[in-house]
Amino acid sequence: MQLDKKLQEREKELEAFHRVSEILYTYDGNIKEVIQKILLVITGAFQYPEITAASFSYDNISVQTDNYKSTGRALKAEFTAQQKTGCIEVVYLRKMPDADEGPFLKEEKKLLGSLVKLIGMYFEMNAKNIILDVNVKEKELLLKEIHHRVKNNLQIINSLMRLQSNMITEENTKDVFKTTENRIKAISLIEEKLFRSANIKSIDYSECFTQLTEQILSAYKAHKKKITYSLDFMDFGISINRAIPLALIINELITNSIKHAFKDLPGGNISISFKCESGNCRLEYIDNGRGLNKDFDAGNPRRLGYMLINALTSQLDGGFSIENKTNGFKFTLNFPVN
Ligand SMILES: Nc1ncnc2c1ncn2[C@@H]1O[C@H](COP(=O)(O)OP(=O)(O)O)[C@@H](O)[C@H]1O
Ligand SMILES: [Mg+2]
Repeated sequence: MQLDKKLQEREKELEAFHRVSEILYTYDGNIKEVIQKILLVITGAFQYPEITAASFSYDNISVQTDNYKSTGRALKAEFTAQQKTGCIEVVYLRKMPDADEGPFLKEEKKLLGSLVKLIGMYFEMNAKNIILDVNVKEKELLLKEIHHRVKNNLQIINSLMRLQSNMITEENTKDVFKTTENRIKAISLIEEKLFRSANIKSIDYSECFTQLTEQILSAYKAHKKKITYSLDFMDFGISINRAIPLALIINELITNSIKHAFKDLPGGNISISFKCESGNCRLEYIDNGRGLNKDFDAGNPRRLGYMLINALTSQLDGGFSIENKTNGFKFTLNFPVN
């Protein structure tokens, strides 16, 4: 090999060492991406980068370059961290002329050995965090997958119910189907939000609850009333255990306004606000309809709507109060954020 070519190779190797240290130093929490970057640096440092591929394995972490396939022409180096062995394998995808170690240079072998030692040391120091990080990411993906399936199954149930209700002519029974369908839709919307969100633990539901309100109102378009609404959902992150009961309660309240409050009226206004402050959440729901009957006792409900509201409020470890106003109805719900 000519001197300038040799120098070029040494420079590439040195550069690779420097870049790998840099990548490890600025490790940002996604270990698989970090290893992917390192593998690209390593393959770039070999004599024939365009036909070089690499794979990495350690514990339950396994990463390969996109072009990787196992060939007989491999250079391997191992490291040990936390009593477990890890390995990097570099392969040429085509047969290349013989050099020092098969087609590889002895300097390349040295470089890979040093890089693997560096990575090993890094894993030794950070193994617990790294493995935890991989596990958390995998669990989160799995959870999302579950939410996706739940949502799809709920949609199937809803389609079945709609088909069944198309066979029914009796208005009251048809209405029961529709109410149930809307309850399922409310849950389904939350599930959808969960599997679409980047980080399942801190979801901002404000957009989702706005969508929910619009979804319910549009489901009852048949009532052909002019219903206006104002929504004030503060950006909030609550857990799914809180979000689903809350969505179902809002669903019951809006449905009641449409069906009862604005009955015999040409339309009405609904105003909903939701805030979470110092660990406490507060929902205020107001409509300007005809108000509740005097004998209405929310604590001792006779119909399913308020039975549900009571049960869901207990699930939230919360409490609600109702105010019958001269012109409408106000519902206030308080519950702890966790
Ligand atoms: N916003 C409201 N305005 C006026 N009346 C209401 C309102 N919400 C509920 N009601 C009354 O309370 C009753 C109980 O509501 P609910 O338990 O949801 O049962 P349902 O909606 O099935 O009748 C309703 O039948 C209705 O008379
Ligand atoms: Mg109701």
